[in-house]
Amino acid sequence: MKIKEFSLTNKFIKDRIRSVKKQVEPKRYLVSFDSRTTAHVFTDVLVMGSGVAGLSAAIQAARCDSVLVVTKERIDENNTAYAQGGVAVVLSAGDTVSKHIKDTLDAGQGLCDAATVKAFISEGPRRVNELIAWGALFDKENDRLVFTQEGGHHFPRIIHAQGDSTGKEIEQTLIAVARENKNIKVFEHTFVIDLITEDGICHGAIAWHAKKGSMLIWAKRTILATGGCGQVYRETTNPGVATGDGLAMAYRAGATLQDMEFVQFHPTTLYIAGAVRFLITETVRGEGGILRNKRGERFMPKYHPQAELAPRDVVSQSILKEMQKTDRTHVYIDIRHIPKERLYARFPRIREICASFGIDIAKDLIPVRPSAHYMIGGVKVNRFSRTTIRHLYACGEVACTGMHGANRLGSNSLLEGLVAGSVAGADAGKSIQRSKRELFPYPIQELAGGSKISWLDLNDIGNSLKSLMWRDAGIERDEKHLLEAEEMIEMWCRYVMDKEFANPAGWELQNMLLVSRLIVVSARKRKESRGVHHRSDYPETDNTHWKRHITVKRQKS
Ligand code: FUM
Repeated sequence: MKIKEFSLTNKFIKDRIRSVKKQVEPKRYLVSFDSRTTAHVFTDVLVMGSGVAGLSAAIQAARCDSVLVVTKERIDENNTAYAQGGVAVVLSAGDTVSKHIKDTLDAGQGLCDAATVKAFISEGPRRVNELIAWGALFDKENDRLVFTQEGGHHFPRIIHAQGDSTGKEIEQTLIAVARENKNIKVFEHTFVIDLITEDGICHGAIAWHAKKGSMLIWAKRTILATGGCGQVYRETTNPGVATGDGLAMAYRAGATLQDMEFVQFHPTTLYIAGAVRFLITETVRGEGGILRNKRGERFMPKYHPQAELAPRDVVSQSILKEMQKTDRTHVYIDIRHIPKERLYARFPRIREICASFGIDIAKDLIPVRPSAHYMIGGVKVNRFSRTTIRHLYACGEVACTGMHGANRLGSNSLLEGLVAGSVAGADAGKSIQRSKRELFPYPIQELAGGSKISWLDLNDIGNSLKSLMWRDAGIERDEKHLLEAEEMIEMWCRYVMDKEFANPAGWELQNMLLVSRLIVVSARKRKESRGVHHRSDYPETDNTHWKRHITVKRQKS
C-alpha cells in the first residue's frame, strides 16, 4: 500500500514538473515608453531607495557627484525605519572583530563570503562612530553605550536607540544629513519601473510620479537600494512598500540573483486578529523574555542549548512545532518577571502597540508567531557592491553580498546596510571621477507589447499569492508544496505578466509574482536543509552537493 502511494505521488509530481517547465520569461520592460515623448532627468548617481543603505550610498557618492535619491513613498517609509533591535557592532569592552566574525560565519552555515564578513565587521565601528558624530543618539547608561544580545551572538554587542526604535533614529539622522547636502536631491512618491540597459550597461531608469507622469532618469551610475520583498508572504513584519521591486527589475535587466531561497522568518511577531504583524524584537528575548506554549510551558531549552537565544531559524522552527503540537495559531512571550519600570523604559514602542490591544506587557503574555522578515538572497554583488551589470550597484537587503550566508544574525543587517551602502556610494562616486564619461541619453522606444485592457482584481491575486507563499514556500517546505506553488504562480503569470499597467498597483503585483517565482524555483532546487531553508523532505544539510550558491538569471536580456 505504501509503495503504491509513493509511486502515485511520484507520478503526480512528474506530471506537474512537466507543466511548470513551460515557464515564460517576463517582458524586458513592464511599460512602453519613447524617449521623444518622455521627460528627461539627469544625474551623476541615481540611488533607488531611502533606507539605511540608500542614504549611506547617497551621502558617500555626494562627496564628488550629483546624486538623485528616488523613493516610492515618503523618504522615511522603508524597512529601516521599522527596525527595532539594533546594530551589531564591535564596540564593547571584551568583544573582538574575530568573535563577531565567528558568530556570523557559524550562523551562515558555510555560505558566507568570509572576506566580506571580515571587511564589513571591521568597518562597522567606523561607520557607527560616523553616525554618532552626525547626531544619532544610541542608548547609554552613565554616558556609556549599552549593549544587548540577540540570537546566535555569543556576546552583547547590539547597540540600540530610543529603546526599541533603533531604525527610526538611524533613518532620521541620515535623512537630516542628506537634506543638508546640496549635491543630493530627493524625489519622493516616485516609482521606479525598470532599469534602462543597453549592451550590458545600466544607464539609469524609467520612473513614474502620479502628477509628473513618466520620466527617464539618465545616470552615470545607478545604485539599487530598494529593500526586500516580505510582502510576498501573508505574514510579514515588512511594511507595504517591500514588494521586491528592485529584485524584479534587476532580474528583468539581466543581473544575476543569488540565494533567493533564503528567506528569513522572524520568530516573534505580534499575533492578534486585526493587528498589523508588529515585530516583537529579539532583544526582548535578549533581556530575558521566555517563550511559552499554550500550556504555559517553556519549550526552547529542549530544542537548543542557547534556548530563547538560539539562531532565528531554530527558534522559528521550534515555535512552529509547538504550535502544531498544541494545535494553536501562536505561542507567547513572557516578560512579566522583568521589573515594570525597566520594561517600559526599554521597550516603549512595544508597550504602546500592545497596550492599544489591551495587553500590558508587564502583566500579560504577548501572543506571537513567526513571519517573513528578511530576504537574505538578492542581487549578486562583489565586494565593491557592483552587480553583474556594468554601472549598476546594489546594497542593503536587495543585494546578496555574502555577509549572511544561509542565515542572518539579528542586527547584522543595519550594520551591512551602513557599510555596503557607503562602499557602493564611494565606489560609484570615484569611478565616475576616474572615467570622466559624460551622460549621453540615446533615443529609445520600447514597446512592452502588453494588453492594456484588464478586468483583473489585483488585490485578489495579490492576496492569493501571499497565502500561497505562506502555505507552500514558508518556514517548512517540501517538493510537493513547492511544485504546487510554482504551478499556481505560473498560471497567474500567464494572465498578469502580459498586461501593461499604468500605475504602481499593477507593477507591484507583477514584481511580486516574479520574485515569488524566483524564491520557489530556488527553493525547489536546493534539495537539503540549511540555515533558514528548511525542507521536511530533505531534513539534513548536504555539504557534498549543496555547499554552494544557487543563482538565477533571465535567459534573454
Ligand atoms: O528582532 C529584531 O529586533 C530584529 C532585528 C533584525 O532583524 O536585525
